Amino acid sequence: MVEVIVLGSGIAGLTASIHASDNGAEVSLISPDYSERSQSVMAMGGINAALNTKGENDSVNQHFTDTINGGCNLNNKKAVEMLTRDAPEIIDWLSRLGTSFTRDDAGNVDLRNFGGQKKKRTAYAGSRTGKQIVSALVNACRKRESEGKIKRFVGYRFLSLIFTDENECCGVRCIHEDTGKVKSFTGDAVIIATGGYNQLFGKILGSVQNDGFVTAKLFTQGVELANLEMVQYHPTTVATSQKRMLITEAARGEGGRLFVERDGQRHYFMKEMYPELADLMPRDVVSRSIYNVSDGGKKEVFLDLTHLGEDTVKVKLDEVYEIATRYLNINPLESPIPVFPAVHYFMGGILTDENHKTNIKGLYAAGECSCQYHGANRLGGNSLLGAVHGGLVAARNAVLESVKGNPIIDDELSFSVCGDKSLSRTLDEISEIMNESMGIYRNEDGLKKGLERLENLNTDVNAKYYDYQKVQLLKLLGKASILSALSRKESRGAHQRSDYPQSDENYEKPTLARYENGEIVIT
Ligand code: FUM
Repeated sequence: MVEVIVLGSGIAGLTASIHASDNGAEVSLISPDYSERSQSVMAMGGINAALNTKGENDSVNQHFTDTINGGCNLNNKKAVEMLTRDAPEIIDWLSRLGTSFTRDDAGNVDLRNFGGQKKKRTAYAGSRTGKQIVSALVNACRKRESEGKIKRFVGYRFLSLIFTDENECCGVRCIHEDTGKVKSFTGDAVIIATGGYNQLFGKILGSVQNDGFVTAKLFTQGVELANLEMVQYHPTTVATSQKRMLITEAARGEGGRLFVERDGQRHYFMKEMYPELADLMPRDVVSRSIYNVSDGGKKEVFLDLTHLGEDTVKVKLDEVYEIATRYLNINPLESPIPVFPAVHYFMGGILTDENHKTNIKGLYAAGECSCQYHGANRLGGNSLLGAVHGGLVAARNAVLESVKGNPIIDDELSFSVCGDKSLSRTLDEISEIMNESMGIYRNEDGLKKGLERLENLNTDVNAKYYDYQKVQLLKLLGKASILSALSRKESRGAHQRSDYPQSDENYEKPTLARYENGEIVIT
């Protein structure tokens, strides 16, 4: 029987485990925490599919075109073709598993408008879509666990990939968070589903569990990364005392409007600048517009929901209502919400082909950690879709693998160095450098300064093995991201260079990052 190892238990990891198991594999599902604590539960707005149940004349072709246009032509087109083609079947599958999508009076899955899409295409469950999908998938996974088809290992953090003597990937080495014991998991294929690298940018919207360790470690082990410069800023986020929080794009999908005050008047600037899609332009455009009208954040920009009515705000946007009232002390039915863009998603990451294969035999990646669908800018609602689709496709291919060589296993931890610098201060310094150099607008000067600061940063932190390595790895990933941004001498989607404001067709291809002989190589 084929043994498949899945690392990460959010939506991509759960989907991969279920499908690998249903295709006859024995699955080990490994994660630091339970699925209910994965970043997937934070996804609010919805999941895209051209269901065409609203008489909108929507089609798979239109979904494909919107995704490619939103991604500024940097997407893997074969992968997007498969993604958009399979989307309606995915909604059906999730419904059958028990995802409680919001439905219309006729019982059809309801659809809402989302950014960069010409049609209503986003299925949703109030503003808690991620939670509902996770809960249906957890249920399906538990069933298979009880039948012994999936084995779960919770509390393990990834340390490194295990290779065979024929250089195939055949497992992962992990450390148990409580006992500190190292354990090797081996099998025929490994699927990485560990999310984005949030901690590189500090206290941003996503979960700090997605710290970037896995992506960076894989890089040092020969895995190719791509498009690290493509960092998505979500237009509407709010500051709370701990971290920034998301005001879902669904708020604009349901009719919310952005405005800035000029001469005592409200200016609904998105409508003024982009009459057709207005507030629902792709995220990179909306974020830049907010940045520009606010003079880089000096003036406040507001999201106005006051005209939407109680049913929409309290039911369809329940989580927005809760965040505004509970954390900001603002009743969105009465007052607008001050918003500003913040880092939300990484379009770049582990490069895969449309089958979710990496450049290493036996190694697959799915979900936000992987790079294939979204190009230079992801459309809202395509990430949950990409996570489910990626899990499904990776599993379908992984079950066909079988290891030829012998695993090279080392369960020892050799760790003698440990400095005296504060861990949290050093992480803050890294994220400050990344935020300053890789903002909504970048230029050569700022990027070079960021690179130099990172190179000179003392990372000799006082920490245990995992955290010590993490800091070194984040420094490396930060450098690879800045070098990627420096090498793309054009503006495209989320990558806006004030010194190269135009897009250039010579750059209509991915930025590849490799680690060779201890050096970062960008092509
Ligand atoms: O705004 C949102 O609800 C985010 C959705 C997404 O990133 O797909």
